[in-house]
Amino acid sequence: MILRRNFVLDNNIYEVESFVKRLGTLVRAYLSPEDLMKFSLGIAEIIINAVEHGNLEINYEEKSSLLKEGTYFDQLRERAENSKYKGRKINISLCADENKIEVTVSDSGCGFDWRKYFQDENRNILDFHGRGLKIARFYLDEIVYNETGNEVKVVKIPTGKKCK
Ligand SMILES: Nc1ncnc2c1ncn2[C@@H]1O[C@H](COP(=O)(O)OP(=O)(O)OP(=O)(O)O)[C@@H](O)[C@H]1O
Ligand SMILES: [Mg+2]
Repeated sequence: MILRRNFVLDNNIYEVESFVKRLGTLVRAYLSPEDLMKFSLGIAEIIINAVEHGNLEINYEEKSSLLKEGTYFDQLRERAENSKYKGRKINISLCADENKIEVTVSDSGCGFDWRKYFQDENRNILDFHGRGLKIARFYLDEIVYNETGNEVKVVKIPTGKKCK
């Protein structure tokens, strides 16, 4: 049987963890504990990116300098309240069965040059951030961005013995 669900999230990175747990309870019947952990870690990075870089438009360089100044999390809160970004939502759709878990995440940002981050895995390896997409690619089986980069489909293929 195919499980289908749609969700809408606000721009609050602190709510991503509980949302991912909720997603996890929906798909746990299809995944082994290890796969569920990998799926959760990977999808969390993708959703956090959709909030901070997509809807709130903080790019790589800005994140670097805000982290250095120690004002990154204040800036996230400020932007989430700013009228320019406030109405923006993250749309998430889930489609799952025993062969495949597929999640599509869309944000209202301008997208990004995702090829650049996929091409050179070792770029900026010593920066304080820049690991999210690497984590997602490591733990998920497929990550496909639209041309613009504001919508991404991720796939986890179940392997091994399922969660009880
Ligand atoms: N949905 C998105 N919209 C716009 N830009 C994005 C999006 N997702 C990722 N990016 C860009 O790709 C870069 C790399 O993302 P990645 O998750 O690897 O690192 P990060 O978010 O900067 O840091 P970290 O995830 O380690 O905290 C981001 O800094 C951002 O510039
Ligand atoms: Mg990230």
